[in-house]
Amino acid sequence: MPKVFITRKIPELGVSMLREKGYEINVNPHDGPLTKSELIDFLKKEQYDAVLSLLNDKIDADVFDAAPTVKIFANYTVGYDNFDIEEGKKRGIILTNAPGGGTDRVAEHAWALILALTCRIVEGDVFVRQGKYSGWDPMLFHGIKITGKTFGLIGAGRIGTQVARIASCGFGMRVVYHDIVRNSKIESIHNASYWPTVEDVLKQADVVSLHTPLLPSTRHLINAERLKLMKPTAYLINTSRGPVVDEQALVTALRDKSIAGAGLDVFENEPALSPGLVDLPNVVLTPHIASASEYARDDMARIATENIIAVLEGGQAKNMVYN
Ligand code: DGY
Repeated sequence: MPKVFITRKIPELGVSMLREKGYEINVNPHDGPLTKSELIDFLKKEQYDAVLSLLNDKIDADVFDAAPTVKIFANYTVGYDNFDIEEGKKRGIILTNAPGGGTDRVAEHAWALILALTCRIVEGDVFVRQGKYSGWDPMLFHGIKITGKTFGLIGAGRIGTQVARIASCGFGMRVVYHDIVRNSKIESIHNASYWPTVEDVLKQADVVSLHTPLLPSTRHLINAERLKLMKPTAYLINTSRGPVVDEQALVTALRDKSIAGAGLDVFENEPALSPGLVDLPNVVLTPHIASASEYARDDMARIATENIIAVLEGGQAKNMVYN
């Protein structure tokens, strides 16, 4: 019977789908991520056919060497920057991700960050809880209206398109976007205009939301020079991957008020934060929870598991991360 290793506890739905197939399942018994050497030790103990991996698991040549019988590493996440794709491809190992289930939830989270900033929700909440509210004050916590303003999208995949849809349909915003490939759907349905460079979008937008995968070409896509191109009244939202933004440069831009604020669900060196980030009042921070919901997590487990089953039954995985 095929053997599957699951690197951390995931929703039961995924595990039971594999069990129903009669596969032998081993789950990392510790409730926490494995270090690379722990992962390698687990993989060396048995001859596995498949591994269900998480975003903290660095899957590279050392791991492939430790698990020569594994045909597929199926990520239980949309992002797949934990894979050494070139190495996997060279060895003919199937690498998959789990897109889909989290799309709406991540888009809603991006909007929660935008509205938390523009309506000053977190500052207001802290103020009330600290007993500082002494009655209505016409000058208290002025936010800004974003209805009718310009929404800048960097990365027009599934999630980015949904975030832009909310901008356009919900807030009547003009959508400007950049991606390495044009997206005809976002242009025709949401009247979004394509701009050939990231700079074009940064200069025009009142809110910039990042939805690119982390690749060598997108690491520090938003750096000190590009932050300087944003309007001083603009907000930057990141629910993609932390290293897409040069976090220390962002701290400087926020401190100097060269941009109005930032909403971050991801960080450059998670779980560590760049010095000074938590002291800034114009930033809203959440702990990489943009896709956290029962529905999304179950769906991600289902998708990862279906990829494993397809490969172990001799078929094609639906969500290969390379061609
Ligand atoms: C993903 O799926 O890539 C998220 O970042 C984790 O839920």
